[in-house]
Amino acid sequence: MAKWLNKIVCGDCIEILSGVSKPFADLIFADPPFNIGYKYDKYNDKVKSKNYIAWTRDWMGACLKVLKPEGSFYIAIGDDYAANVKVIADELGLLMRNWIIWHYTFGQQMKTKFARSHTHIFYFVNDKSKFTFNGDNARIISDRQKIYNDKRANPAGKMPDDVWNEYPRICGTFEERTAFPCQMPESLLARVIRVSSNEEDWILDPFSGSGTTAIVAAKLNRSYTGIELSSEYTKQSRQRIVKFRDSAVEGEERKPWTEQMDKELKWLYHENKTPTDQLDEDDYLLTLFTEKFNLRMGNNGNKVSQKQLMKRLVRLRKSGKLGALRGEHIRLNKV
Ligand SMILES: C[S@@+](CC[C@H](N)C(=O)[O-])C[C@H]1O[C@@H](n2cnc3c(N)ncnc32)[C@H](O)[C@@H]1O
Repeated sequence: MAKWLNKIVCGDCIEILSGVSKPFADLIFADPPFNIGYKYDKYNDKVKSKNYIAWTRDWMGACLKVLKPEGSFYIAIGDDYAANVKVIADELGLLMRNWIIWHYTFGQQMKTKFARSHTHIFYFVNDKSKFTFNGDNARIISDRQKIYNDKRANPAGKMPDDVWNEYPRICGTFEERTAFPCQMPESLLARVIRVSSNEEDWILDPFSGSGTTAIVAAKLNRSYTGIELSSEYTKQSRQRIVKFRDSAVEGEERKPWTEQMDKELKWLYHENKTPTDQLDEDDYLLTLFTEKFNLRMGNNGNKVSQKQLMKRLVRLRKSGKLGALRGEHIRLNKV
Protein backbone atom coordinates (compact mmCIF):
# COMPACT_ATOMS: atom_id res chain seq x y z
CA MET A 1 0.00 0.00 0.00
CA ALA A 2 2.93 2.33 0.63
CA LYS A 3 3.26 2.78 -3.13
CA TRP A 4 -0.06 4.70 -3.07
CA LEU A 5 0.94 7.06 -0.28
CA ASN A 6 0.30 10.65 -1.39
CA LYS A 7 -0.86 9.53 -4.82
CA ILE A 8 -3.97 9.77 -6.96
CA VAL A 9 -4.29 6.28 -8.41
CA CYS A 10 -6.21 5.73 -11.64
CA GLY A 11 -8.51 2.71 -11.51
CA ASP A 12 -11.61 1.08 -10.04
CA CYS A 13 -11.71 1.51 -6.26
CA ILE A 14 -13.31 -1.91 -5.67
CA GLU A 15 -10.63 -3.74 -7.65
CA ILE A 16 -7.79 -1.74 -6.15
CA LEU A 17 -8.94 -1.95 -2.53
CA SER A 18 -9.83 -5.63 -2.76
CA GLY A 19 -6.16 -6.36 -3.37
CA VAL A 20 -5.07 -4.69 -0.10
CA SER A 21 -4.48 -7.06 2.79
CA LYS A 22 -3.99 -4.68 5.73
CA PRO A 23 -6.10 -1.73 6.97
CA PHE A 24 -4.23 1.55 6.43
CA ALA A 25 -6.82 4.37 6.37
CA ASP A 26 -7.38 6.54 9.45
CA LEU A 27 -10.17 8.38 7.66
CA ILE A 28 -12.18 7.66 4.51
CA PHE A 29 -14.23 10.31 2.74
CA ALA A 30 -16.36 8.86 -0.06
CA ASP A 31 -18.46 10.96 -2.42
CA PRO A 32 -19.67 8.40 -4.98
CA PRO A 33 -21.77 9.15 -8.07
CA PHE A 34 -25.42 9.43 -6.91
CA ASN A 35 -27.03 7.51 -9.83
CA ILE A 36 -28.84 10.60 -11.04
CA GLY A 37 -27.58 10.71 -14.61
CA TYR A 38 -24.66 13.06 -14.09
CA LYS A 39 -22.28 13.28 -17.04
CA TYR A 40 -18.92 11.86 -16.00
CA ASP A 41 -15.93 11.18 -18.21
CA LYS A 42 -15.87 7.38 -17.71
CA TYR A 43 -18.66 6.40 -15.36
CA ASN A 44 -22.32 5.78 -16.36
CA ASP A 45 -24.36 7.51 -13.64
CA LYS A 46 -27.74 6.01 -14.53
CA VAL A 47 -27.93 2.28 -13.87
CA LYS A 48 -30.73 0.05 -12.56
CA SER A 49 -31.50 0.78 -8.95
CA LYS A 50 -30.79 -2.79 -7.80
CA ASN A 51 -27.41 -2.76 -9.54
CA TYR A 52 -26.50 0.57 -7.95
CA ILE A 53 -27.42 -0.74 -4.49
CA ALA A 54 -25.38 -3.94 -5.03
CA TRP A 55 -22.43 -1.83 -6.23
CA THR A 56 -22.78 0.46 -3.19
CA ARG A 57 -22.56 -2.61 -0.94
CA ASP A 58 -19.42 -3.73 -2.78
CA TRP A 59 -17.51 -0.45 -2.57
CA MET A 60 -18.54 0.19 1.05
CA GLY A 61 -17.35 -3.33 1.93
CA ALA A 62 -14.06 -2.79 0.08
CA CYS A 63 -13.49 0.49 1.94
CA LEU A 64 -14.32 -1.03 5.29
CA LYS A 65 -11.65 -3.70 4.77
CA VAL A 66 -8.94 -1.01 4.61
CA LEU A 67 -10.28 1.21 7.41
CA LYS A 68 -8.25 0.97 10.62
CA PRO A 69 -10.11 -0.29 13.71
CA GLU A 70 -10.11 3.25 15.14
CA GLY A 71 -10.87 4.91 11.82
CA SER A 72 -13.75 7.11 10.66
CA PHE A 73 -15.75 6.77 7.46
CA TYR A 74 -17.74 9.65 5.92
CA ILE A 75 -20.09 9.07 2.98
CA ALA A 76 -21.81 11.81 0.97
CA ILE A 77 -24.97 10.67 -0.80
CA GLY A 78 -28.14 12.08 -2.37
CA ASP A 79 -31.74 11.58 -1.22
CA ASP A 80 -32.48 8.62 -3.48
CA TYR A 81 -30.00 6.20 -1.87
CA ALA A 82 -29.32 7.69 1.58
CA ALA A 83 -31.56 5.11 3.26
CA ASN A 84 -29.80 2.26 1.40
CA VAL A 85 -26.39 3.51 2.55
CA LYS A 86 -27.59 3.50 6.16
CA VAL A 87 -28.99 -0.04 5.87
CA ILE A 88 -25.80 -1.35 4.25
CA ALA A 89 -23.68 0.37 6.91
CA ASP A 90 -25.74 -1.37 9.62
CA GLU A 91 -25.24 -4.72 7.89
CA LEU A 92 -21.49 -4.12 7.66
CA GLY A 93 -21.32 -3.26 11.36
CA LEU A 94 -20.44 0.41 10.99
CA LEU A 95 -21.61 2.68 13.80
CA MET A 96 -23.28 5.94 12.90
CA ARG A 97 -22.21 9.00 14.88
CA ASN A 98 -24.02 11.64 12.82
CA TRP A 99 -26.34 11.86 9.87
CA ILE A 100 -25.26 15.29 8.67
CA ILE A 101 -27.24 17.40 6.25
CA TRP A 102 -25.14 19.65 4.10
CA HIS A 103 -27.57 22.43 3.20
CA TYR A 104 -26.06 24.44 0.37
CA THR A 105 -26.87 27.60 -1.47
CA PHE A 106 -26.81 27.65 -5.28
CA GLY A 107 -28.99 24.52 -5.60
CA GLN A 108 -30.60 23.77 -8.97
CA GLN A 109 -33.81 25.66 -9.65
CA MET A 110 -36.99 23.55 -10.23
CA LYS A 111 -40.25 24.41 -11.94
CA THR A 112 -42.53 21.65 -10.69
CA LYS A 113 -41.19 20.78 -7.23
CA PHE A 114 -39.17 22.30 -4.43
CA ALA A 115 -35.55 22.99 -5.30
CA ARG A 116 -33.10 20.45 -3.94
CA SER A 117 -30.56 22.12 -1.72
CA HIS A 118 -28.96 19.45 0.44
CA THR A 119 -26.76 16.37 0.46
CA HIS A 120 -26.55 13.74 3.18
CA ILE A 121 -23.18 13.14 4.80
CA PHE A 122 -22.96 10.05 7.00
CA TYR A 123 -20.34 9.94 9.69
CA PHE A 124 -19.55 6.36 10.74
CA VAL A 125 -16.86 4.80 12.93
CA ASN A 126 -15.60 1.27 13.39
CA ASP A 127 -15.40 1.33 17.17
CA LYS A 128 -17.95 2.98 19.46
CA SER A 129 -15.40 4.45 21.86
CA LYS A 130 -12.08 4.59 20.05
CA PHE A 131 -11.91 7.17 17.28
CA THR A 132 -10.38 10.57 16.62
CA PHE A 133 -12.69 13.51 17.28
CA ASN A 134 -10.92 16.87 17.60
CA GLY A 135 -14.11 18.76 18.38
CA ASP A 136 -12.32 21.96 19.38
CA ASN A 137 -11.14 22.29 15.78
CA ALA A 138 -14.71 22.80 14.63
CA ARG A 139 -16.13 25.15 17.25
CA ILE A 140 -18.08 28.18 16.01
CA ILE A 141 -19.41 31.35 17.69
CA SER A 142 -22.59 30.47 19.55
CA ASP A 143 -25.86 32.45 19.60
CA ARG A 144 -25.26 32.93 23.32
CA GLN A 145 -22.10 34.80 22.45
CA LYS A 146 -23.31 36.48 19.28
CA ILE A 147 -26.93 37.40 19.93
CA TYR A 148 -27.36 37.39 23.69
CA ASN A 149 -23.88 38.47 24.78
CA ASP A 150 -24.29 35.88 27.54
CA LYS A 151 -21.22 35.82 29.74
CA ARG A 152 -21.87 32.14 30.63
CA ALA A 153 -21.22 31.14 27.03
CA ASN A 154 -18.16 28.98 26.42
CA PRO A 155 -15.58 31.47 25.08
CA ALA A 156 -14.26 28.75 22.76
CA GLY A 157 -17.65 28.69 20.99
CA LYS A 158 -20.01 25.75 20.44
CA MET A 159 -19.93 22.56 18.40
CA PRO A 160 -21.68 23.02 15.05
CA ASP A 161 -25.07 21.34 14.56
CA ASP A 162 -25.53 18.39 12.24
CA VAL A 163 -27.01 20.69 9.61
CA TRP A 164 -24.12 22.38 7.87
CA ASN A 165 -25.16 25.47 6.01
CA GLU A 166 -21.98 27.44 5.82
CA TYR A 167 -20.63 25.84 2.65
CA PRO A 168 -22.06 26.91 -0.71
CA ARG A 169 -21.92 24.50 -3.62
CA ILE A 170 -19.02 25.27 -5.94
CA CYS A 171 -20.46 27.19 -8.90
CA GLY A 172 -18.81 28.16 -12.15
CA THR A 173 -17.90 31.63 -10.90
CA PHE A 174 -16.02 30.45 -7.79
CA GLU A 175 -12.27 30.86 -7.79
CA GLU A 176 -11.71 27.33 -6.48
CA ARG A 177 -13.76 25.75 -9.31
CA THR A 178 -11.80 23.32 -11.47
CA ALA A 179 -13.11 21.99 -14.79
CA PHE A 180 -14.73 19.11 -12.86
CA PRO A 181 -18.57 19.08 -12.63
CA CYS A 182 -19.40 18.20 -9.00
CA GLN A 183 -16.58 19.36 -6.84
CA MET A 184 -16.91 19.50 -3.04
CA PRO A 185 -15.92 22.73 -1.27
CA GLU A 186 -12.45 22.56 0.28
CA SER A 187 -13.69 24.20 3.48
CA LEU A 188 -16.23 21.40 4.07
CA LEU A 189 -13.51 18.78 3.66
CA ALA A 190 -11.28 20.82 5.97
CA ARG A 191 -13.85 20.51 8.77
CA VAL A 192 -14.11 16.74 8.33
CA ILE A 193 -10.35 16.24 8.13
CA ARG A 194 -9.48 18.50 11.06
CA VAL A 195 -12.07 16.88 13.29
CA SER A 196 -11.63 13.23 12.35
CA SER A 197 -7.89 12.94 11.78
CA ASN A 198 -4.57 14.12 13.15
CA GLU A 199 -1.55 15.45 11.30
CA GLU A 200 0.26 12.69 9.40
CA ASP A 201 -2.80 10.41 9.41
CA TRP A 202 -3.62 8.63 6.14
CA ILE A 203 -6.81 9.66 4.36
CA LEU A 204 -8.47 7.70 1.56
CA ASP A 205 -10.94 8.99 -1.03
CA PRO A 206 -12.16 6.10 -3.23
CA PHE A 207 -14.00 8.49 -5.62
CA SER A 208 -11.43 11.20 -5.91
CA GLY A 209 -12.91 13.25 -8.79
CA SER A 210 -11.17 16.61 -8.89
CA GLY A 211 -9.02 15.58 -5.90
CA THR A 212 -10.61 17.82 -3.24
CA THR A 213 -10.03 15.40 -0.36
CA ALA A 214 -6.43 14.82 -1.38
CA ILE A 215 -5.53 18.47 -1.75
CA VAL A 216 -7.11 19.46 1.56
CA ALA A 217 -5.35 16.53 3.25
CA ALA A 218 -2.04 17.75 1.81
CA LYS A 219 -2.73 21.34 2.89
CA LEU A 220 -3.45 20.15 6.43
CA ASN A 221 -0.34 17.94 6.65
CA ARG A 222 -2.08 14.61 6.30
CA SER A 223 -1.18 11.83 3.88
CA TYR A 224 -3.67 10.82 1.21
CA THR A 225 -4.63 8.30 -1.42
CA GLY A 226 -7.25 9.14 -4.01
CA ILE A 227 -8.68 6.56 -6.43
CA GLU A 228 -10.31 7.75 -9.63
CA LEU A 229 -11.72 5.83 -12.59
CA SER A 230 -11.15 8.53 -15.19
CA SER A 231 -7.58 9.04 -16.39
CA GLU A 232 -8.47 12.60 -17.40
CA TYR A 233 -9.75 13.51 -13.89
CA THR A 234 -6.71 11.74 -12.42
CA LYS A 235 -4.38 13.85 -14.52
CA GLN A 236 -6.18 17.10 -13.69
CA SER A 237 -6.33 16.39 -9.96
CA ARG A 238 -2.62 15.56 -9.86
CA GLN A 239 -1.95 18.92 -11.49
CA ARG A 240 -4.25 20.65 -9.00
CA ILE A 241 -2.28 19.19 -6.10
CA VAL A 242 1.11 20.22 -7.51
CA LYS A 243 -0.16 23.73 -8.18
CA PHE A 244 -2.05 24.46 -4.97
CA ARG A 245 -0.74 22.19 -2.21
CA ASP A 246 1.17 25.05 -0.55
CA SER A 247 -1.78 27.47 -0.56
CA ALA A 248 -4.29 27.90 2.25
CA VAL A 249 -7.56 25.93 2.22
CA GLU A 250 -9.91 27.75 -0.19
CA GLY A 251 -12.11 30.19 1.70
CA GLU A 252 -9.70 30.36 4.64
CA GLU A 253 -6.97 32.44 3.11
CA ARG A 254 -6.59 36.03 4.16
CA LYS A 255 -7.11 38.15 1.10
CA PRO A 256 -5.22 41.45 1.13
CA TRP A 257 -7.16 44.41 2.47
CA THR A 258 -8.45 46.56 -0.40
CA GLU A 259 -9.36 50.21 -0.84
CA GLN A 260 -12.97 49.16 -1.34
CA MET A 261 -12.94 47.50 2.09
CA ASP A 262 -11.72 50.75 3.65
CA LYS A 263 -14.53 52.66 1.94
CA GLU A 264 -17.16 50.19 3.16
CA LEU A 265 -15.72 50.20 6.66
CA LYS A 266 -15.80 53.97 6.85
CA TRP A 267 -19.31 54.06 5.55
CA LEU A 268 -20.53 51.44 8.01
CA TYR A 269 -18.78 53.22 10.85
CA HIS A 270 -20.54 56.48 10.13
CA GLU A 271 -23.83 54.74 9.54
CA ASN A 272 -23.68 52.94 12.90
CA LYS A 273 -22.38 55.92 14.86
CA THR A 274 -20.53 53.79 17.43
CA PRO A 275 -17.14 55.25 18.39
CA THR A 276 -14.11 52.96 18.00
CA ASP A 277 -13.42 52.93 21.76
CA GLN A 278 -16.91 51.69 22.47
CA LEU A 279 -16.61 48.99 19.80
CA ASP A 280 -13.30 47.92 21.23
CA GLU A 281 -14.79 47.51 24.71
CA ASP A 282 -18.07 45.89 23.74
CA ASP A 283 -17.70 42.39 22.31
CA TYR A 284 -21.34 42.20 21.36
CA LEU A 285 -21.34 45.43 19.36
CA LEU A 286 -18.11 44.48 17.64
CA THR A 287 -19.54 41.06 16.69
CA LEU A 288 -22.59 42.70 15.12
CA PHE A 289 -20.49 45.31 13.40
CA THR A 290 -18.13 42.67 11.96
CA GLU A 291 -21.02 40.55 10.76
CA LYS A 292 -22.59 43.52 8.99
CA PHE A 293 -19.27 44.29 7.36
CA ASN A 294 -18.75 40.72 6.15
CA LEU A 295 -22.28 40.59 4.84
CA ARG A 296 -21.81 43.82 2.95
CA MET A 297 -18.52 42.65 1.46
CA GLY A 298 -20.01 39.22 0.55
CA ASN A 299 -17.09 37.64 2.38
CA ASN A 300 -18.58 34.18 2.26
CA GLY A 301 -16.07 31.75 3.74
CA ASN A 302 -13.36 34.42 3.75
CA LYS A 303 -14.59 36.49 6.62
CA VAL A 304 -12.69 39.29 8.28
CA SER A 305 -12.24 38.59 11.97
CA GLN A 306 -13.29 41.01 14.71
CA LYS A 307 -9.67 41.50 15.65
CA GLN A 308 -8.67 42.27 12.08
CA LEU A 309 -11.53 44.72 11.67
CA MET A 310 -10.80 46.51 14.95
CA LYS A 311 -7.14 46.85 14.03
CA ARG A 312 -8.06 48.41 10.71
CA LEU A 313 -10.51 50.83 12.32
CA VAL A 314 -7.88 51.98 14.80
CA ARG A 315 -5.34 52.39 12.04
CA LEU A 316 -7.79 54.48 9.98
CA ARG A 317 -8.64 56.58 13.01
CA LYS A 318 -5.01 57.24 13.86
CA SER A 319 -4.23 58.28 10.31
CA GLY A 320 -7.18 60.67 10.43
CA LYS A 321 -8.86 58.86 7.52
CA LEU A 322 -11.83 57.61 9.49
CA GLY A 323 -13.22 61.06 10.23
CA ALA A 324 -15.16 62.04 13.36
CA LEU A 325 -18.68 60.75 13.92
CA ARG A 326 -21.37 63.39 13.84
CA GLY A 327 -21.50 64.81 17.33
CA GLU A 328 -18.37 62.98 18.43
CA HIS A 329 -16.18 66.10 18.45
CA ILE A 330 -18.78 67.88 20.61
CA ARG A 331 -18.86 64.99 23.07
CA LEU A 332 -15.07 64.89 23.18
CA ASN A 333 -14.84 68.65 23.61
CA LYS A 334 -17.27 68.53 26.51
CA VAL A 335 -15.20 65.91 28.37
C1 LIG B 1 -19.17 12.73 -7.14
S1 LIG B 1 -17.66 12.54 -7.93
C2 LIG B 1 -16.49 12.89 -6.67
C3 LIG B 1 -16.24 14.38 -6.52
C4 LIG B 1 -15.16 14.70 -5.52
N1 LIG B 1 -15.63 14.57 -4.17
C5 LIG B 1 -14.61 16.11 -5.74
O1 LIG B 1 -14.73 16.98 -4.85
O2 LIG B 1 -14.10 16.39 -6.81
C6 LIG B 1 -17.52 10.82 -8.13
C7 LIG B 1 -16.27 10.36 -8.89
O3 LIG B 1 -16.16 8.93 -8.78
C8 LIG B 1 -15.55 8.42 -9.96
N2 LIG B 1 -15.82 6.96 -10.01
C9 LIG B 1 -16.96 6.33 -10.38
N3 LIG B 1 -16.83 5.00 -10.21
C10 LIG B 1 -15.60 4.78 -9.69
C11 LIG B 1 -14.90 3.63 -9.27
N4 LIG B 1 -15.45 2.41 -9.34
N5 LIG B 1 -13.64 3.78 -8.77
C12 LIG B 1 -13.08 5.01 -8.68
N6 LIG B 1 -13.70 6.14 -9.07
C13 LIG B 1 -14.95 6.03 -9.56
C14 LIG B 1 -16.18 9.27 -11.05
O4 LIG B 1 -15.39 9.24 -12.23
C15 LIG B 1 -16.24 10.66 -10.39
O5 LIG B 1 -15.12 11.39 -10.70
